[in-house]
Amino acid sequence: MIIARTLAELNEARNALGPVGFVPTMGALHEGHLALVDAAKAGGLPVAASIFVNPTQFGPKEDLARYPRDEAGDLAKLEGAGCALVWLPGVHVMYPPHGTTMIHVNGPATHWEGASRPGHFAGVATVVAKLFGQMRPESAYFGEKDWQQIQVVRRMVADLHLPVRIVPVPTRREPSGLALSSRNAYLTPEEHRAAPALHAALLHAAREIVAGKEVAATLHHARHEVAQAGLVPDYIALVHAETLEPISGLIRPARLIAAAKLGHVRLLDNIPVG
Ligand code: PAF
Repeated sequence: MIIARTLAELNEARNALGPVGFVPTMGALHEGHLALVDAAKAGGLPVAASIFVNPTQFGPKEDLARYPRDEAGDLAKLEGAGCALVWLPGVHVMYPPHGTTMIHVNGPATHWEGASRPGHFAGVATVVAKLFGQMRPESAYFGEKDWQQIQVVRRMVADLHLPVRIVPVPTRREPSGLALSSRNAYLTPEEHRAAPALHAALLHAAREIVAGKEVAATLHHARHEVAQAGLVPDYIALVHAETLEPISGLIRPARLIAAAKLGHVRLLDNIPVG
């Protein structure tokens, strides 16, 4: 496995490998990330991953400084998973001091995480565009746990005519239903037991909506269920799966999306409806 830390090293590796399937990450890798590598391998091209904890997608009160980091462990996992190349840029490589360009995506970035975390999606879109420019992948693999992120990246890729195929990969979950996330490492054992309530509430709400129950009442009930379990719901919404606009009745493609605070952790989840 080639490890590149400078743009020159990355270019050399890219020229040697030819077209790649790309898995961008912020490290602290878990089974969900390795599922992205597996999906990329199934795509048939050599797999390149990146590890970069992107400062521009964290708000001033968020967990940038304490975001879990384990470079040696991550590299061992990527090597074990069959990655051909890992890109490990430093902050000054990614954001040269004279740089002034940020990418602001409207539309799918407007609501939900975009509203609760101002600037977050500009940070994501900017770093993903930079990573695509550096890596020039044929395809890039993103976990569906961050459903809104995928729609924002897809919008950006279409709007900027970037020559990369975006491939969503289903969310990996614990047997309890809790979606795997690097931030689950922050949960206390008690919080860990409460956390699956978010997914359970989504499953319940999806069944009710498909059975024809009124959407607003169902979402209200889902928020209540989540709060009863000790989580603080931020939003639980039925949305158009691509535009992320809220919908009041079941039109397709529809997605139930949710975010809730549990202790210091912001949990995200989403499932298809119908
Ligand atoms: O999903 C993530 O881990 C990050 O948002 C990404 C896509 C690697 C950009 O920093």
